[in-house]
Amino acid sequence: MSAAQEETISVPASYGQTSNTLAQYEQQYTRSIGSVAGTADRFWIEQASRLDWEQRPTRGDESSFDPVEIRWFADGVLNICHNAVDRHVAAGRGDDRAIVFEPDDPDGAVRRLTYRELQAEVVRCANTLKAMGVGRGDRVTIYLPMIVEGAIAMLACARIGAVHSVIFAGFSADAIAGRIADCASEYVICADEGRRGGRIVPLKANIDTALAKLAVKAVLVVRNTGAPVPMQEGRDHWYDEASRDVADTCPCEPMGAEDPLFILYTSGSTGKPKGVLHTTGGYAVWAETTFRAVFDYRPGELFWCTADIGWVTGHSYIVYGPLLAGASVLMFEGVPNFPDHSRFWQVIARHGVNIFYTAPTAIRALMREGTSYVEGHDLSSLRLLGSVGEPINPEAWQWYHEHVGASRIPVVDTWWQTETGGIMITTLPGAHGMKPGSAGKPFFGVVPQLVDNDGKVLDGVAEGLLCITQSWPGQARTIYGDHDRFVLTYFAHFKGKYFTGDGCRRDADDYYRITGRVDDVINVSGHRMGTAEVESALDSHHDVAEAAVVGFPHDIKGQGIYCFVTLNAGIEPTESLVAELKQQVRAQIGPIATPDHIQFAPALPKTRSGKIMRRILRKIAEHEFDALGDTSTLADASLIDGLIADRRNAG
Ligand code: WT7
Repeated sequence: MSAAQEETISVPASYGQTSNTLAQYEQQYTRSIGSVAGTADRFWIEQASRLDWEQRPTRGDESSFDPVEIRWFADGVLNICHNAVDRHVAAGRGDDRAIVFEPDDPDGAVRRLTYRELQAEVVRCANTLKAMGVGRGDRVTIYLPMIVEGAIAMLACARIGAVHSVIFAGFSADAIAGRIADCASEYVICADEGRRGGRIVPLKANIDTALAKLAVKAVLVVRNTGAPVPMQEGRDHWYDEASRDVADTCPCEPMGAEDPLFILYTSGSTGKPKGVLHTTGGYAVWAETTFRAVFDYRPGELFWCTADIGWVTGHSYIVYGPLLAGASVLMFEGVPNFPDHSRFWQVIARHGVNIFYTAPTAIRALMREGTSYVEGHDLSSLRLLGSVGEPINPEAWQWYHEHVGASRIPVVDTWWQTETGGIMITTLPGAHGMKPGSAGKPFFGVVPQLVDNDGKVLDGVAEGLLCITQSWPGQARTIYGDHDRFVLTYFAHFKGKYFTGDGCRRDADDYYRITGRVDDVINVSGHRMGTAEVESALDSHHDVAEAAVVGFPHDIKGQGIYCFVTLNAGIEPTESLVAELKQQVRAQIGPIATPDHIQFAPALPKTRSGKIMRRILRKIAEHEFDALGDTSTLADASLIDGLIADRRNAG
């Protein structure tokens, strides 16, 4: 790391007035973590009081990490949909714009919804769900493209107390089936088809395949492209038809703060994806508070987060955070490179976006195309830039700051996870200087700690494993249906602490720099992928004896997927088998999991007790042939030279 990369860049004075100052941050942070007894609960109840509660919470944090039980605002009663929608209409902000929709096709129709219009749409959807039989606590699977109906469906579920489980529209039928079965979801909302980058995604067809062996009570189909799709009598209903005659009012169900709000599946280092469960009150307070403070949101501004609602970033910073704060949010159906590499900048100029929040992988991909695509677009409306999803390399940070932000506006690099519900480590614009590649400071209520492999706490300047020592309102409560796995995954490595799975460095200014995952999870284009899932997709091919999957550095994606595959005896490695295996992974997980490289190996390096030595395979995939470490425990060390030679040939 060169000195230049550690340099602090201050926020220019031209940034203007801000709600954040360093003194305020420090004072608030101290209160929020309860350094002075009793202040934390008061701080969080104050934050909570920006929301409407049918019954105000009198208690804040009642969580414990040993035994593991997370609980916030437990005696509070509220409805998050009321807070995100109706509250603003009731307060006379019904004509404020809520959602601006930019379609995949730049010549397609822009759709604008005020808060009042959003309310009407949400009520219509909620009543349609009720008519299908959906009630409080029922799990509703949402498999929609990036159209406003996605946000509407989520809010409609929340309104009637149903628990949504949104599945990213890029996941395959097998992945959908697993998620529907895991949470015993009996209702599905999908679209006929989706559009993305000029291509069609066959959403209803994927649902039909997923449901071939699963019974659900109803499938609600949004007419999006208008393509004819088969409808199963009694099960499938067109949304426009089913919603035609429903009532135009629908009360918001009063929910306990700890009632479930949503499940979101995410990959871990072992086994199938975990259904991370978030509840109502704490999540609402966390989404609202982080959105306001981190993006320093000012009334009337347009906020654009380029994530998909299928990921937690979309949940918290397209839907709940901005709408709870009464903000205007842009929803984009497309991708950064369609019709060409200037699409993001065109959209910013077209709608006058003020705050832009995207992922390093997108920045790197656009950076590679040169500055000509950025130049010539009026980006003067921008006031703040954000990054999320993976470590941002200083070069990409500089490019973003200079070419998109004209070196005149702050960049916030926000570290968080599906399990944290919202932003955890970031700088606050106005309060903190920025260090390219460094996420920055803990947000209110967040107490980070670095430990070594043995759990020894590392103080001061240090590099170690990132833990969080006390609960915060947005923390996931459990893994749906498997609290033991929740405890085992996050609280068993270091007793009494939440372990993030990330490595991290803390510098002399107490800035935190995330170095990446330290477990068998890889981050491909900001998407979290369990190597075990890819392995199991490969293993299920009849010609495969065994597979081991690791990440390797990739210029654009951050990490790519590298697979070592051993074939059954007598099977010849061929190009067509490579294609078949890639297809197998796409079919079982989805296109985002497509392997970048498949290397056939006569055998995989194992310990004498038969454990695959992934550490060594990782180094080979990374071309770090001199850093294999201790190979003395290998059962057959002679394998290694051949694996290295083949890796060299693969380029
Ligand atoms: C993992 C969580 C945060 C919502 C989207 C991803 C990595 C995320 C950053 C960042 C460095 C980051 C971590 C984390 N990550 N943001 N700003 N700097 N790393 O959520 O799919 O749950 O993935 O993404 O490794 O553990 P997720």
